Amino acid sequence: MSEPIVVTDQDGVRVIRMNRPEKKNALTQPMYAAMTAALGGADSSAAIRCVVLAGGAGVFCAGSDIGDFQKRAEGGIASVTIDFLYALARSQKPLVAAVGGLAVGIGTTMLLHCDYVVAAAGATLSTPFVKLGLIPEAASSLLVPQRLGQPRAFELLVMGHALPAEAAKAAGLVNAVVDAAAVDDTALKAAREIASLPAGAVAVARKLMRGHLDDVVSRIDTEAAHFKELLGSDEARAAFAAFFARKK
Ligand code: COA
Repeated sequence: MSEPIVVTDQDGVRVIRMNRPEKKNALTQPMYAAMTAALGGADSSAAIRCVVLAGGAGVFCAGSDIGDFQKRAEGGIASVTIDFLYALARSQKPLVAAVGGLAVGIGTTMLLHCDYVVAAAGATLSTPFVKLGLIPEAASSLLVPQRLGQPRAFELLVMGHALPAEAAKAAGLVNAVVDAAAVDDTALKAAREIASLPAGAVAVARKLMRGHLDDVVSRIDTEAAHFKELLGSDEARAAFAAFFARKK
């Protein structure tokens, strides 16, 4: 059976690929743990100069596995998920995303921690947290209003309206929109370009540009505390059950 997270290293670039196509790359706890380990390994390797987060054709990631949410109703957001969010926020290496298609929930919010984002022309970014009785995570409640302003952030994060790739580019969340078939190559080309730059200067420039990490980490923690309360709420339980009952 193929691994749900596939990590490959070439030419100073580590590609971390979500590979659970039958579930639209919905992230399970072992997948979070594998991605965290791959990010940590990149941080501690001088040979790796850039990391690409990738999904598959037509789908980047459909968010956290809603079945896991149901199981975690009493325990709150899993520690492996929090560890992944910390690893993203604290990543020492530039992060490039190859968004080949739909990005939902954390599939969208992880992009806020990336330095360069390539999206397929037909891709959409969405965060239906509130529709699920939950709240935005990954410090998105801080970062999206900073990037988009309150009205557009509210529409995305609270109303759950999907943002098409071109609109995401216009809003400053995406660098390049290309044909779906060219997403991986375009992202890899950007990653190789970044990997060829002087690593020390890239690291310092990036650290300065990414602002106050303490605020980001603190917001991840605050969101997780609210998320924990809401995960067991009647609203959330009903939304999770409705998701799995939708085809019956
Ligand atoms: N958690 C668990 N399973 C998921 C999932 C998720 N986040 N997203 C998709 N899946 C599963 C579906 O249950 C389905 O499984 P099945 O074939 O056993 O029934 C399979 O992936 C394919 O999804 P399907 O809904 O049939 O594909 P689609 O193309 O019609 O729709 C989505 C794709 C992503 C729009 C839809 O699956 C969806 O809305 N997923 C939930 C997204 C979400 O709310 N994520 C959490 C955000 S906080």
